[in-house]
Amino acid sequence: MYSRIVGTGSYLPKKILTNRDLEKVVDTSHEWIVTRTGIEERRVAADDQRTSDLALEASRAALQAAGIQPNDLGLIVVATTTPDYIFPSTACILQSKLGIDNTCPAFDIQAVCGGFVYALATADLYLRAGRCRYALVVGSEIYSRILDWTDRSTCVLFGDGAGAVVLAADKTAGILAHRLHADGRYSNTLAVPGQICSGQVTGRPYVVMEGGAVFKFAVKALGDIVEETLAEVAMKPEDVDWLIPHQANIRIIQATAKRLGLPMERVVVTVDKHGNTSAASIPLALDIAVRDGRVRPGQHVVLEGIGGGFTWGAVLIRW
Ligand code: ACO
Repeated sequence: MYSRIVGTGSYLPKKILTNRDLEKVVDTSHEWIVTRTGIEERRVAADDQRTSDLALEASRAALQAAGIQPNDLGLIVVATTTPDYIFPSTACILQSKLGIDNTCPAFDIQAVCGGFVYALATADLYLRAGRCRYALVVGSEIYSRILDWTDRSTCVLFGDGAGAVVLAADKTAGILAHRLHADGRYSNTLAVPGQICSGQVTGRPYVVMEGGAVFKFAVKALGDIVEETLAEVAMKPEDVDWLIPHQANIRIIQATAKRLGLPMERVVVTVDKHGNTSAASIPLALDIAVRDGRVRPGQHVVLEGIGGGFTWGAVLIRW
């Protein structure tokens, strides 16, 4: 038994925050942000929206594309670093908002920007074990709430959004291979080190990052993980039709593509319009490329991402 993606969906909050808007908030410029990151604008969730609300919209679109009902699902996995609450999990809240009463398992995966590939790989293994017919895998984030809007080195980088896929158990392989890694020695390089302790927030409850160190690690790790994943099924980068990378920064994306020898025409880029939406960025980009007809049946697609932890991974799909 294998698994394959049979539906994709995504959701972006309505409010657009442009670089020009940010110029009024911090000492930055549209030119600096575009040159260093490729980001032109990002979305910001409304005050009354929670991560599960964004996930709900993306999930409904994915379920509709798959042609199945919420109660057909046998597993829900939500990748998020910005959950609604400490608990219950955003996946359980999403299960309730979808009106599901079949008691299928539901849980969150916390692997920051590596979260979606972690979640997809986990759900694939679950389906391959024959435990259910359909799984919903979601990446949903509201980073605008964990940003220090006075820190120009981080607040310009991120955005809010959600993406989702429906995975179905199938005799034909859709997901061909995946590899995941983590290295906790880098846990201070990119973090939100705050916590709630006896009712008080202790530590810094905002994103802190050593930008240069993240950049260097990301380019090497992402190139390596794609090659490692392809090698599992004796494929090479030139066999890849589409690279759908985590959308952190256009320079990381370009450097990874160059390292793999892939022209940018075969790379899906949304970072200009979305910013870095962490666990949501890959399924958002995938949904856009599926709906605009770039990703077509029979093509080979590689998803790759890296995030705080560090965590990183890649998934190879025959569409
Ligand atoms: N606007 C204007 N100037 C800024 C801004 C800003 N928003 N942010 C930083 N600067 C200044 C700095 O203060 C510094 O000024 P100085 O030289 O007077 O001290 C100057 O710009 C250069 O700063 P650097 O940090 O060296 O800039 P760099 O070229 O490294 O770019 C960036 C910073 C974009 C964060 C880069 O390091 C990067 O892309 N890192 C990867 C990190 C990343 O993408 N993180 C996303 C989350 S992690 C993930 O998803 C994998």
